[in-house]
Amino acid sequence: MLSALHHKGSVRSICCFSSAPSVAAPEPRSRKATLLRPSPCGLLPAQRMPNATEPLGSALPHTAKAIYLDYNGTTPIFPEVAEAMEPFLGECFGNPSSGHVYGRRSKRALDEARGAVATLIGAESPTEVVFTACGTECNNWALAGAALAWREGHPGATPHVVASAVEHPAVTECLKALARLGLLCYTLVPVDAEGRVCLESLRAALRPGSTAVVSLMHANNETGALQPVAEAAAAARAAGALVHCDAAQSIGKVQVDVNELGADLLTVVGHKFGAPKGVAALYIRSGVRLAPFLHGGGQEGGRRAGTESILLAAGLGAAAALARAELAAAGAHMAACRDRLQRGLLAAFPPGATRVNGPSDDAHRLPNTLSIGIRGLSAAAALEALADSLAASSGAACHAPGGGGDDGGARISGVLQAMAVPRENALGTLRLSTGRHTTLEEVDRAVAFILAEAKRQGIATVVK
Ligand SMILES: Cc1ncc(COP(=O)(O)O)c(C=O)c1O
Repeated sequence: MLSALHHKGSVRSICCFSSAPSVAAPEPRSRKATLLRPSPCGLLPAQRMPNATEPLGSALPHTAKAIYLDYNGTTPIFPEVAEAMEPFLGECFGNPSSGHVYGRRSKRALDEARGAVATLIGAESPTEVVFTACGTECNNWALAGAALAWREGHPGATPHVVASAVEHPAVTECLKALARLGLLCYTLVPVDAEGRVCLESLRAALRPGSTAVVSLMHANNETGALQPVAEAAAAARAAGALVHCDAAQSIGKVQVDVNELGADLLTVVGHKFGAPKGVAALYIRSGVRLAPFLHGGGQEGGRRAGTESILLAAGLGAAAALARAELAAAGAHMAACRDRLQRGLLAAFPPGATRVNGPSDDAHRLPNTLSIGIRGLSAAAALEALADSLAASSGAACHAPGGGGDDGGARISGVLQAMAVPRENALGTLRLSTGRHTTLEEVDRAVAFILAEAKRQGIATVVK
């Protein structure tokens, strides 16, 4: 699948049968021809020369009217990825476990996709990569699987898990549920005002001999804060614990390497970097004991039974190859867009009226994420009013269960609460996340939309 990625300058899957697929490739942008030339090894597209102000890749197939600044929510399926999946909607349908020609071809495609994911994250062997359905599954499996395996080796004892207070609900809700079942106990470690975990508290929370797993996300989905995973992992290992890292938000945006991070288990989520929704992967370091997730046939090395979706795996593999090839260029482009957004919004309001939530040091945050609180603004009302023109998200869930007070029942996100963001900034927080296809022109229009909405809400602005 990934062995011939170069058709009209775009990532293209070769059909697993001898004749080429008849589906026409989307017309690439003219500058595209220079982007993805064959690499010498022929496996992955070569790194393009970065031009940070221009979006990457083929144009998106739709002409959405609303500006899309919600790449942390999900990305579109990148056109090159869709193209790579095409053969698996048609003639390449075999069950990869079948020994005949159809099955073998699917197996080859599955192996190539697995290899591309393994290469992207620096895994030693493709066998360390298991395909799953979503990030939630990966996180649930990592925690429950490690806890169950630990219990087998410690009859009668309860495993302890350490996680940060700003993990995704796919970690925190799972921990709550497993604790209710009596399968584990856990400690959530606080973060500082910039949303980074306090290493001192993390070290203090470890219980050598009974802490089975430390789960720390690589990047936070709301603030983009990069966590000190390598440092936490060193402490965890010294205490005899496994390390799980949820890298859902960092893959495709910054370098993710399981050895640099010190991760034994790592969550990869396709729809955050150009693959379709419904496919993800869990990295399981060789030798790590993890209870199987699904019991049945021997698929995925007997760890997650069920016939694999070659279509979705092919999409994940193509997205992984693209993410690897484009990492530097994509990061620079996302950052150029994010920085322009940040500058535009900070300049639009009086000093002190805005607060950027997250690390002040760019080295400690994702290149694409801007979480900005505008004092006095109702972010929920703004997003509602702008729903047809600007797609973004807020730091508060309006009218969520448990909400209350004089702000229409809005509930502030757990992440902003953990960072002790002042309430009026939190309620006015917008999460804007840029991506591979964002344009500077869209960024400027987004700033203008937000400004107009703030004025409509009676917020003082600098720009008339
Ligand atoms: C950090 C993080 N982890 C896990 C997930 C869950 O992924 P999925 O929606 O594929 O289950 C998300 C999705 O938003 C996320 O941002």
